[in-house]
Amino acid sequence: MKMLTAAALCVLMILSLCSRAEATTAFDLLRASAVSYTGSLPCGEWDCECAFKRQQGCCCIEQPLFDLEEATFMRMVGLWEGLSHLNTQIEELTAGCKISFTAAMLPMSGCLGPFTSNMSIAYQSISLNQGNGYNPALGTFTAPHAGLYSFSFTAYSSVGSPGQRLYQKVQLMKNGQLIASSWEDNREDSEDSSTQTVLLQLRRGCQVYVELLSGRQLCGDTQGQNMFSGYLVYPFPDK
Ligand SMILES: *[C@@H]1O[C@H](CO)[C@@H](O)[C@H](O)[C@H]1NC(C)=O
Repeated sequence: MKMLTAAALCVLMILSLCSRAEATTAFDLLRASAVSYTGSLPCGEWDCECAFKRQQGCCCIEQPLFDLEEATFMRMVGLWEGLSHLNTQIEELTAGCKISFTAAMLPMSGCLGPFTSNMSIAYQSISLNQGNGYNPALGTFTAPHAGLYSFSFTAYSSVGSPGQRLYQKVQLMKNGQLIASSWEDNREDSEDSSTQTVLLQLRRGCQVYVELLSGRQLCGDTQGQNMFSGYLVYPFPDK
């Protein structure tokens, strides 16, 4: 009860400071309450000098309020620093991460190949190349950013009429290493296609391309059915 009365006193003092119009009555009330109060105060000695002569900002809860303000301020500074750090990390992670490409072979009535060595296919008709990772002259995709990538390629060939040999094989390569392939060798049908999709973890600068194997050929692709495409699924931090 004593504590409550003391707290009420302090609140009254604050109220009297905030509202000047009612200052006189509140002040009188406060003085009357203070004079009639006989218990001990929770914040130590009652400072009459302070309470009645230098009222502006002077109260027994002044110090706790100041401490609270200080603690809140420090906490806000900490939060602000944390947010800035997070923002920098997000910007680093997402900078230049819109990476995708789609390219097709230029339409042809004849055949690509056969060659005497494995030959990377230059898919020269580009419909998408965000991030400029794909080089149409070489047919090579170079990862602009480390991350998990998805690649697809379609091999299509049409040799004209049954009895002629469909003899195709293409393979997806990562830095010279075989990743996936698709092939066909028959004389029964004259037209075939197949598609492969792979997920690859790439470091920045890794190269991915599709090769036509030596001795094989892709024929009669009059509509750009041979395609190569890829995109960044999600990035890894660049080391
Ligand atoms: C061409 O690819 C095939 C199949 O992956 C491989 O066996 C062969 O060694 C490659 N040739 C060259 C010259 O790299």
